[in-house]
Amino acid sequence: MEGTPKRPSNQELLLNEILQEALALPLSGEVANYIPALASVNPNQCGIAVANLDGQVHVAGDADVPFSIQSVSKVFGLALAMLRMGDDLWQRVHMEPSGQAFNSIVQLEWEHGIPRNPFINAGAIVVADTLVSHYSASKNALMSFVRGLADRPEIAVNQDVFLSEKQHGSRNAALAYLMKSFGNIEADVEDALDHYFYQCSIEMSCRDVARSLSFLANRGVQPHSGDTIVSRRDAHRINAIMQTSGMYDQSGEFAFEVGLPAKSGVGGGIVAIVPNYGVICAWSPRLNQYGNSCMGMYMITRLAEKLGLSVY
Ligand code: DON
Repeated sequence: MEGTPKRPSNQELLLNEILQEALALPLSGEVANYIPALASVNPNQCGIAVANLDGQVHVAGDADVPFSIQSVSKVFGLALAMLRMGDDLWQRVHMEPSGQAFNSIVQLEWEHGIPRNPFINAGAIVVADTLVSHYSASKNALMSFVRGLADRPEIAVNQDVFLSEKQHGSRNAALAYLMKSFGNIEADVEDALDHYFYQCSIEMSCRDVARSLSFLANRGVQPHSGDTIVSRRDAHRINAIMQTSGMYDQSGEFAFEVGLPAKSGVGGGIVAIVPNYGVICAWSPRLNQYGNSCMGMYMITRLAEKLGLSVY
């Protein structure tokens, strides 16, 4: 009935309890500031959403506030490139953890311009290059893919963040030009970078992210539409790479402590896939030394612990 407040579900009560615990922690971490437009975000925001496979979404805190998804976008880019390229993609980017920071350049030279995996920046730039080469308008293709997955045509890019990334993207440009010198960038380097910066600047809420990636918890089928997004094999593969490389050089610790495939971004978002159960997305902008959200890590760890969600 209109005007009657919605009673929180048990799951929402649990999410709120965990959110309150996270907010009561001693403040730690810093907002990403190497992209100046990200530094202006209010660091005290904190939200969490869980999209279950029955289509229900449970939320707490700032779960409906759009944030810069940054490297979480690498999951969308990868899924689209796998659809478009098939197994040829794996000639251009491998699937091993890097053991290096997400924007490290050293390994790339001695490994002849082939990035270790699609979730370090070099790997995501190769993925962006394949999209630029295979679509006449790769940015539009990616946006319609993301909007369709979330069933939200309103999802958009933050232009300030996009321009800020372009202006402060020297390290990514260095990665891209080095790969070009090894013949592993096909398109114009600036076009591949433009696509990469654009997808990093997409804004989504925890609810949007959790809903849009639900197909990864459901063997490739999007629960709310019934559409097959990727094959069961590719859903397995994306989850496997998230598990081994999605949290950068904290991926081992995250597997050890939590045991879920996950992907983080320097905007403070973390998405974690719970196969056959649903998708969790937590967001709070303060980051630890690896670039992962401090409160996001805390909330997902607690939820997985309380509900026994590990895949192991
Ligand atoms: O290219 C960059 O550095 C950012 N646009 C994205 C990095 C990112 O989110 C890494 N995440 N932890």
